[in-house]
Amino acid sequence: MLEEVVANRYVTPLREGGSLPGIVEADDLGTYVMKFTGAGQGRKTLVAEVVCGQLARRLGLRVPELVTIQLDPVIGLSEPDQEVQELLKASGGLNLGMDFLPGSLGFDPLAYAVDPKEAGRVVWFDAVINNVDRSWRNPNMLVWHGDLWIIDHGATMIWHHNWPGARASAAKPYDASDHALAPFAPDIAAAAAELAPLVTRELLEQVAADVPDEWLADEPGFTSADEVRAAYVEALLPRAATIHERITLGPRVERRPQQPPGWLAERLAPRPHAAEPHAPEKDGTT
Ligand SMILES: Nc1ncnc2c1ncn2[C@@H]1O[C@H](COP(=O)(O)OP(=O)(O)O)[C@@H](O)[C@H]1O
Ligand SMILES: [Mg+2]
Repeated sequence: MLEEVVANRYVTPLREGGSLPGIVEADDLGTYVMKFTGAGQGRKTLVAEVVCGQLARRLGLRVPELVTIQLDPVIGLSEPDQEVQELLKASGGLNLGMDFLPGSLGFDPLAYAVDPKEAGRVVWFDAVINNVDRSWRNPNMLVWHGDLWIIDHGATMIWHHNWPGARASAAKPYDASDHALAPFAPDIAAAAAELAPLVTRELLEQVAADVPDEWLADEPGFTSADEVRAAYVEALLPRAATIHERITLGPRVERRPQQPPGWLAERLAPRPHAAEPHAPEKDGTT
C-alpha cells in the first residue's frame, strides 16, 4: 500500500502538462505534485500512474515516490482560478501524489546526454507499459541533481480502456521512433536481459496491490477490485517477457547540433588572407 497523507494547502497549478496537476503541501510536511481524481482524464490515469510508477521503482528506475493524498475540497475555497476550483471540488477523497523534486529541470536532449544503457532501460520500460507520452516534444522526464527521473505514466497501458481486447492489444509491437531517448542509441537488448527476468507475477501482483480499491471499483466486466488487479498482471506479464523483440526505433536521428549556429560559424570560419592559425609568431626582426 502507498503511504497516505492529507493535503493541507494547495500551492499552485502546474500548467506544462495537460491534466493540470497541482503542487500541494501535506500533513507530513512533504510537498507533492497532486494528480486529481476529478480531472477530465479520469481515474484510470491515476491507476496507470500507480501501476507503472511502482513497477519502475521496483525495477530500479528513478521515479519520485508516490503517495495517496486525502483532499478536503475546502482547502481550495480561496483559490482564485475557476478551473482549479472546479478540479478541487470534483476531487474530494483520495488522489495521487508524487514527491515534488524542487529545482528539477525539464529534460532537454540538447543539454543532457543519456548513456545507451540508461536510455535502453527507459525505452524498454516504456515499451512494456506502452507509454505514448515520452516523445521529444513532451519528454516527461526531469533532471534533478544530475540524474534523469521519469514522470507522468498516465497515458500508458491502452488496453485498460478496453479489457475484452486487452490480451491482443498487449501483444502489439511498440514504436519508439518518436521517443525522446531514441537518439541516444538505447541498448534495448541489455535492458531486456537485465530487467525482463525481474518482472515476475509476484512483483506485478505487489505493484497492482498498491492501487487503492476505490479506483478499481465498479469496473465493467469485473466483480471485484482484485479481479481488475489480476487483469493488469495478465496483460503486463507476457508483454514484459517478449516486447524487446517488437520495439521499432526507426532510423537513428542525430538531434544534437552537428554544426555551430550561423552566427558562430561565421566567426569561426577562417578569414581570407588570414595568417595560418596557431602559426608561431615571428619575432619581428627583418
Ligand atoms: N515530481 C515532480 N517534481 C517536479 N516537477 C514535476 C514533478 N512532476 C511533474 N512536474 C512538473 O509538472 C509538469 C506536469 O506534470 P505531468 O506529470 O507531466 O502531468 P500532465 O499529465 O499534466 O502532463 C511536468 O512537465 C513537470 O514540469
Ligand atoms: Mg506530462
